Amino acid sequence: MIRLEHVDKQYQRNGVTTQALQDINLTINKGDIYGIIGYSGAGKSTLIRLINFLEAPTRGEVIVQNQSIGHLSSAELRAMRRKIGMVFQHFNLLESKTVFENIAIPLILIRESKKKIENRVYELLDFVGLRDKAHSYPKELSGGQKQRIGIARALANNPDILLCDEATSALDPQTTQAILDLLKKINQQYRITIVLITHEMQVIKEICNNVAVMENGRIIEKGSVLEVFGHPKQQTTQHFVSSVINDEIPAAVVENLCAAGGCESNSELFKLEFLGRSASTPVVNALILQQKVVVNILFAQMSEIQKTVLGSMFVQLQGSEADIADAVNYLRDNGVQVTAANQQEIA
Ligand SMILES: Nc1ncnc2c1ncn2[C@@H]1O[C@H](COP(=O)(O)OP(=O)(O)O)[C@@H](O)[C@H]1O
Ligand SMILES: [Mg+2]
Repeated sequence: MIRLEHVDKQYQRNGVTTQALQDINLTINKGDIYGIIGYSGAGKSTLIRLINFLEAPTRGEVIVQNQSIGHLSSAELRAMRRKIGMVFQHFNLLESKTVFENIAIPLILIRESKKKIENRVYELLDFVGLRDKAHSYPKELSGGQKQRIGIARALANNPDILLCDEATSALDPQTTQAILDLLKKINQQYRITIVLITHEMQVIKEICNNVAVMENGRIIEKGSVLEVFGHPKQQTTQHFVSSVINDEIPAAVVENLCAAGGCESNSELFKLEFLGRSASTPVVNALILQQKVVVNILFAQMSEIQKTVLGSMFVQLQGSEADIADAVNYLRDNGVQVTAANQQEIA
């Protein structure tokens, strides 16, 4: 549905060249909620302006629904943009217009009849749960309500694609959650493909199925949310993931363990990582019952991502070297990723 191939974007200003995007390759399929995450300045907004056909790439191709910006007349370009809705961080509502008028703007622009406009606006207001605010002005609304109106306006033309640039970044966590639920509903009910830009990993974790991580104008990592959260490869990605999945053992846990005489020579610490099936089968229970080691669970954290359980656990295994090796093999045979966790490193 959306494909970027070897895309570069440079800006020239006062003789200075900024390389905003470099060799971007990305495929977004119909029905995706595709997250793009990166720190400020990474090139996210530039990328969205290319997908929206507001700007042309310096090199490479941006193909949206089999169309490329270079090959469209300005009339075709306008028609194309109508199939793409846009939601902004600061809502971009017209303060002097009522909620009704704000949502009606895209419909007035395409000269819809008064009756059609009225029906559609009230339908959208019902969808976002704000029918009673039709005649209010933006300044009379909360941030969350303003964003609902921004979303209703973006949906007015029945778009196939919704682009959200930091749509929840100006909202508190609770309101963020409500807006994300609304976006999920839009994706499921209307089958609208959503591209969602954010600097918050929680947002990605909550609703995206795929994610691309951007840094300095490049995509440094991409894949399904489950893959990327389960095995982040790049340091920046690991940093983002650790903001929602804490997979480090708290120092206090290790201190208490050693104080209680638990850091003995016949014991070893391991980090166990569970993904999908291994997280839902009672493999640790079987380990305790069937293996000859003593299992001391120090710290565990489980998260649910895309309806799959993802988790990590730090355990201390006590026993002979051979028994510990047997236990580790048993875990690996059952789909658990096992790495030795050096006590000094952890503490
Ligand atoms: N219109 C522009 N003219 C010149 N430089 C720009 C323009 N838009 C963005 N840039 C530069 O491109 C880089 C990426 O910006 P942007 O896409 O806005 O990043 P993000 O949305 O990830 O914060 C930044 O260095 C920014 O200064
Ligand atoms: Mg931006």
